[in-house]
This record gives sequence, structure tokens and C-alpha cells, in this order.
Amino acid sequence: MTSRDKTSPTSDPRKRRSRGEVRKKTGQTATLRPAFPSPQRGGQSGALAQSPSLPMTPTSFQSERVPAGWQHRHLLDLERLTGDEIRLLLDTAALFKEATDHCRRKLTVLTGSTVVNLFFENSTRTRTSFSLAARRLGADVIDFSASTSSLSKGESFIDTARNLEAMGIDAVVVRHSTPGTPHLLAQHLDVGVINAGDGPHEHPTQGLLDIFSIRERLGDLTGVTVGLVGDIAHSRTARSNLWGLLKLGAKVILCGPPTLVSQRWRELGVEVSHDLDAIVPRCDVLNLLRIQFERQNTRPFPSVREYAHLYAMTSDRLTRAKPDLLILAPGPINRGVEMTAEVADCRQSLILDQVTNGLAVRMGVLWLTCGPREPAAARVHVPPVSDARTRG
Ligand code: MLT
Repeated sequence: MTSRDKTSPTSDPRKRRSRGEVRKKTGQTATLRPAFPSPQRGGQSGALAQSPSLPMTPTSFQSERVPAGWQHRHLLDLERLTGDEIRLLLDTAALFKEATDHCRRKLTVLTGSTVVNLFFENSTRTRTSFSLAARRLGADVIDFSASTSSLSKGESFIDTARNLEAMGIDAVVVRHSTPGTPHLLAQHLDVGVINAGDGPHEHPTQGLLDIFSIRERLGDLTGVTVGLVGDIAHSRTARSNLWGLLKLGAKVILCGPPTLVSQRWRELGVEVSHDLDAIVPRCDVLNLLRIQFERQNTRPFPSVREYAHLYAMTSDRLTRAKPDLLILAPGPINRGVEMTAEVADCRQSLILDQVTNGLAVRMGVLWLTCGPREPAAARVHVPPVSDARTRG
């Protein structure tokens, strides 16, 4: 039984509030009806019952419940989601983006919920984005600081998390350098667990926001060619992109030095290249990934200058690309390493759109994790992450 299940219907403020209230920045309150789908014919309700996508009608929210097409309690990775579940996440994010006027206005759909940020690694975008997303939905946010907590007095990670849970929280957003940490938490907690990056393993909301940004420009991803360039071996962003893109029918090319891009990735159905110049003309999208020096024991190339010469996206390379090539980067970006400053700021760059879309995606994820749902929603068994999945 979750903490939410223990709450009586009348004591839950989310059940008392009027439907879909939106507080505008000006302070006045507008009314929006949540655009989640109502039960469909044939017994199954939710987006997936009628199509892989939600109806894109953000001004006609029909139900405040999490759609039945979303049966998960947690968001741990994209590897174990289906294409339809990923589409549902993206469609939910799109609804929230529109309902909040491009992520600027506030809703009250999670009023009464509390989200805890449990970050054991540095973060600028992800932590801020989760905090803002939770607040945009009306939730309270607690930022847990590992260095000033009782972890430094010897308390175990699980005990710390259980203590936080006992305070009546609804979701934990966790970032940790050890792959599988969110999966471990999910086995011990009854509240929703959202992976905000587990070492080099996965960063599902980053993968979703990258894919969301591509889909917003190009529509259906079937047949779209996406090049992921850089430190594939250590990049959790690469892994989440790879799973999400493949499940949505995109063609994925992994590109970088042989020391950072193993030919073994081909076993997953992706193309592997060590020659950026050869792949640039074929790509519709390039996602330029940072070299994760903090996760490397040895230098994977002689010098950053040499890496940039071979793998940085430059204006010159842009002239040989499709005219509408989209440029993505998860950030933080290192101008002059993954790309030149001109490319970072060029017409096709979606880098700042990605940041805005991160809010939309995280609102969608928080809603699906914390929003009210049918009591019978299935709990999904969470197997541990295998070591093999984290290797480059
Ligand atoms: C991450 O935390 O993995 C970032 O989003 C990407 C990076 O650090 O390069």
C-alpha cells in the first residue's frame, strides 16, 4: 500500500480541488479541463486504448486520473518501456507544455503532493527543471543535500530514503553515480521513484526531452536518422536516447573515437561510425554529447584539440549537412569541444528549446508518477540493472 493509498479520499486535497485550475503569473486563476482521455469503449481506458497517442486537445482535459495506458509506478529507464508508453509520456508532456503556456504558468493538479530531490551528483539543469516542474504543477519540493545529511553520520542510503518516505512524500527524484541506484530505491520504497541519472547507465527524462524536441520539429520519428556523437561509452544520455529512438522507429548512428564507441553497439541494431564527416550528410539530427571526463580512468584520446578536430561540429561541417539538420546537446556544452560557438547558436540549434521541453517532460513524468490513479494500477516488478548494460 502506498502513502497515497492510505490517504482517505476526503483528506486528499487533490480530490477536493476544482478541476484543472490554472494560476496565471498575474495571480488570477484560469480554468482548464485536463486533457487526459476518458475511458474508451471495450473496457480499456486511456490513450493507448484508442491510439498510441493522446488526443492533442489541451484545452479539453477530460479526466484528472493518470491514463490507464501508464501502469508504471516509477520512471527508471527507457529500456524497459514500450514504444506506446514512450509516446504516452511525450504526449502527456505536450499537453502540459500547452496547458502551462510553454511551461510558464502554474497548474494545481499536484497540489498536496511532495517531491524530494535526492541528488548525489552535481546538476544544474536537471535538478532545477524537476523542482520547477513540480512547482508548476502545484507540488511542494524538498531539496535533499547529501553532504549535510545523516548519511555523513553513517546512516545507509536506504534508511535515509525510508525516513524521507515516512514524512509523507509522494515521489523521489534520484541522481547517483552508481548505476541501478533508482532501481534499488524502487524496490524499497512505496512512493514513485524517478531516475534523474544513474552513473553512465540512463537518464530517461533527458532522453525523453531530446526526443520530444525532435518530434516537435519533425513529427513522427519513423525513418528519421539521428547521430549521437561523442562519449557513447560513458553517456547515460546516449543510452536513454538510443532506447527511446529505436522504440519510436528512428535510425540511430553512434559516432565517436573507437575508444568511446564500441562496434558491439551494432548488436542493438544501430550503426557505428568513427567518421563524423561521413555521417553528417545523412543525418536529420545530431545530438552532440559531452566527453564525460569525470567517469574516465584513462584519457580516451591524445588531446581535446585532436578530439575537436575530428568530432566537433563546425560551421564548415554544417555546409555539408542537410539544410534543416537539427542540432541538439544535452548540456552542459563545452564550446569548442563538442561544437563551435557558431554551431551552438546557429538557426538549427535546439539547445535552449531542449531546456524548456525538459520542464514539459518532467511535468508529464511527475504527473504520471504522482497523479491520482485507479487503485488497481499494477505494480511492476523491478529487476536489478545488469552490469553489462552499463558498459560502453
Ligand atoms: C547528464 O547529467 O548526463 C547530462 O545531462 C549530460 C552531461 O552531463 O553531459
